[in-house]
Amino acid sequence: MNKIAYVHGYSERETIRLADQAGSLRELLHHDTVYPPGSKILEGGCGTGVQTITLARQNPGCEIISIDISQDSLRQARSLIEKETIANVAFRQADIFALPFTEESFDHVFVCFVLEHLPSPAEALYCLKKVLKAAGSMTVIEGDHGSWYCYPESREARLCVECLIKVQANLGGNALVGRQLYPLLRETDFRNVSVSPRMVYVDTSKPGLVESFSKNTFIAMVEGVKEQALGFGMIDEKTWQKGIRDLYRATEEDGTFSYTFYKGVGIK
Ligand SMILES: C[S@@+](CC[C@H](N)C(=O)[O-])C[C@H]1O[C@@H](n2cnc3c(N)ncnc32)[C@H](O)[C@@H]1O
Repeated sequence: MNKIAYVHGYSERETIRLADQAGSLRELLHHDTVYPPGSKILEGGCGTGVQTITLARQNPGCEIISIDISQDSLRQARSLIEKETIANVAFRQADIFALPFTEESFDHVFVCFVLEHLPSPAEALYCLKKVLKAAGSMTVIEGDHGSWYCYPESREARLCVECLIKVQANLGGNALVGRQLYPLLRETDFRNVSVSPRMVYVDTSKPGLVESFSKNTFIAMVEGVKEQALGFGMIDEKTWQKGIRDLYRATEEDGTFSYTFYKGVGIK
């Protein structure tokens, strides 16, 4: 299997969106993504490699194996890592649900923005846990679209965001999975589970974040489901257009955007 039904698709715009997302959120999400030198780390669902770069740069003394189910994404990830002359990462095509590794062969596992696309996130965590050594750590980072709000408020903008949540649910995913990380990690028998909310707040005093997060990450993600939202009859064209206009309106001088990511860590 080369591809999955993935809400954001595998387009060029999605590649750019993921890169913007990773760039603008690097410090917030990854200032503590640091492992002891000598560790062997599995990155599940590396996509185009935009988190892999951070993982590799912050952990130069670690060996990183990054897997994804999509060959196309892996090709882009390989070329990105080569361009950056990073040498401690190896890529491999693999399915999280059928991992081609010996049990207990990794010191740590890292997964970012993947569980939200899977119909059975707990099963994915069990599969990843099998290849994790005893006392190894599992790190999971996810967003939660229910945590989004903006100023000025707009009913139509909210309806557009709800379309994104529904389209993802139709594809078997869960755009609200961030709030479930604690129960998911407990349910899959990890110990010492801790979850920290990572809030992104954007106003125009941070023009970089207005571009990279509000516009190029969040609004781009919502705009990406237009066809499905209209096609499934979730919203009418007029409401959609007003909602998207209002989302951009919240990126203007007096507008604000808020969104919370969740980072969970548990020990096997
Ligand atoms: C939203 S992307 C995130 C990519 C990357 N972690 C990031 O943060 O930029 C989700 C990735 O999970 C991959 N994926 C989905 N299901 C998978 C599975 N069963 N096994 C491996 N990878 C999977 C998709 O191909 C996609 O590249």
